[in-house]
Amino acid sequence: MFEKAALAALRLISPERAHGLALTALNMGLAPKTGPITTARLATTVAGMNFPNPLGLAAGFDKNATAIAPLMETGLGFIEVGAITPQAQPGNPQPRVFRLPRDRAVINRFGFNNEGMEAASKRLADRPHRIPLGLNLGANKTSTDRAADYALVLARCGGLIDFATINISSPNTENLRDLQAADQLERLLQGVMDANFDLARPVPLFVKIAPDLTNDEIDAIAELALRMQLAGIIATNTTISREGLRGRHRRETGGLSGQPLFERSTQVLARLSQQTGGKIALIGVGGVANADQAYAKIKAGAHLVQLYTGLVYGGMGLVADILQGLDAALAQDGHASLQSAIGTGVDAWL
Ligand code: FNR
Repeated sequence: MFEKAALAALRLISPERAHGLALTALNMGLAPKTGPITTARLATTVAGMNFPNPLGLAAGFDKNATAIAPLMETGLGFIEVGAITPQAQPGNPQPRVFRLPRDRAVINRFGFNNEGMEAASKRLADRPHRIPLGLNLGANKTSTDRAADYALVLARCGGLIDFATINISSPNTENLRDLQAADQLERLLQGVMDANFDLARPVPLFVKIAPDLTNDEIDAIAELALRMQLAGIIATNTTISREGLRGRHRRETGGLSGQPLFERSTQVLARLSQQTGGKIALIGVGGVANADQAYAKIKAGAHLVQLYTGLVYGGMGLVADILQGLDAALAQDGHASLQSAIGTGVDAWL
């Protein structure tokens, strides 16, 4: 009840300020402190990492890695912080994030506002090791070699994290998504992999893609990820589509997340599952706000699931609800482990 009242109050102030307050509340201990939730069915191993459960926090919630310790106690199975760029940068002018409550969606055009890799690395050095921690790598807006930026952040922070995500799918840095084109991407990935091999302990590398790609583009990325032996692909980032929206802010520029993204991001996930045949890990993200949707991502091929916008409307209490429902759904379908459910419903999304 307290969380519901707090969420209602937060909705009365600007979304960016509300988000800052939510991070402050986390650090004050005003969030669920169940500790990582786990059952025999939910525990899983992906890319050599052990997860108490498959539900993680998507990138962009804790951009500067300021709330790692409390986030690790909310019940989640893993968290991803960032995006972090080599240099600190302010991002786009405010307002730059909008709630669309009628659509259960958010539009943001933050543009990688963050304090840079030096500040992040100091925080990462102090972090607890309760659950796997990923770092979302980004590129500076004014960089003359954006591909190199990803390798720079990994070189600086790679020793302090469990996995890294190469985020080439943010719609809010002009031309960034062009890096998804196969020829550009191969060079970029090679640079990041070289930096990774130079670490004392290389980390699993994921690439995060947009939902606005064609099937040919998705297939080319899948082929590249297999050939270059990435740990996996995260599908998807926010969309530039505005189909079917009702909210007052629907014409704002930026990336759309939440319910309207669920279907398209799950289609992309299923396509990747078909193309990669379980040889690399897939993380499904986009529009998850209940147990059925988390389960749908798993059946569409996700080894792990992430969420962000669902938490904006449902609060951190949603984590326990989703995991309880997911465990029950797996049991009902006769799955002794998460593993046996992965990809069992791919065809429904193709
Ligand atoms: C994001 N997302 C994001 N993704 C990423 O790779 N790096 C980032 O820095 C951010 N920043 C960010 C800020 C805000 C305000 C939002 C709402 C989202 C995208 C996010 O990780 C996720 O891929 C999408 O939001 C889709 O999932 P949900 O929100 O529908 O569960």
